[in-house]
Amino acid sequence: MAIRNIIQIGDPTLRKRSFEVTEVNDKIRQLLDDMKETLIAADGAGLAAPQVGILRRIFIVMAEDKYYECINPEIIEKSGSQNGSEGCLSVRGKYGDVERPNKVTVKALDRYGKPFTVKAEGFLARAFCHEYDHLDGILYVDKATKLMEEKD
Ligand code: NI
Repeated sequence: MAIRNIIQIGDPTLRKRSFEVTEVNDKIRQLLDDMKETLIAADGAGLAAPQVGILRRIFIVMAEDKYYECINPEIIEKSGSQNGSEGCLSVRGKYGDVERPNKVTVKALDRYGKPFTVKAEGFLARAFCHEYDHLDGILYVDKATKLMEEKD
């Protein structure tokens, strides 16, 4: 495994639409392993492949003691709404308020190409929506009603 470089806002790669994964192979599994290591090292809740410069429809979410790897994800159901604070590993030093659905159902392929669905609510639903947006070149700062500097 290897820690990959997380690209930052301003890099045009973050604004592109990622491509579907056509074959879930060892190269994809290697990428997932590297993304997991990168996410843990950065102490984040989620990471999308374009954030490490790979324009593929892949993201991972690690929150509330759960870990998900999603390939070619689709948000097939959304309901309710929540307003809360959000940050991004590609937008260092900032956070902002973003409205998101309160519940989502995500359909995706796992690391062996097998389809699965997951229902999430609250923070987990927020994380899925945030990561999904990355695959379409959307950053949370585009949706934030209030953007603030992190003080530490
Ligand atoms: Ni992000």
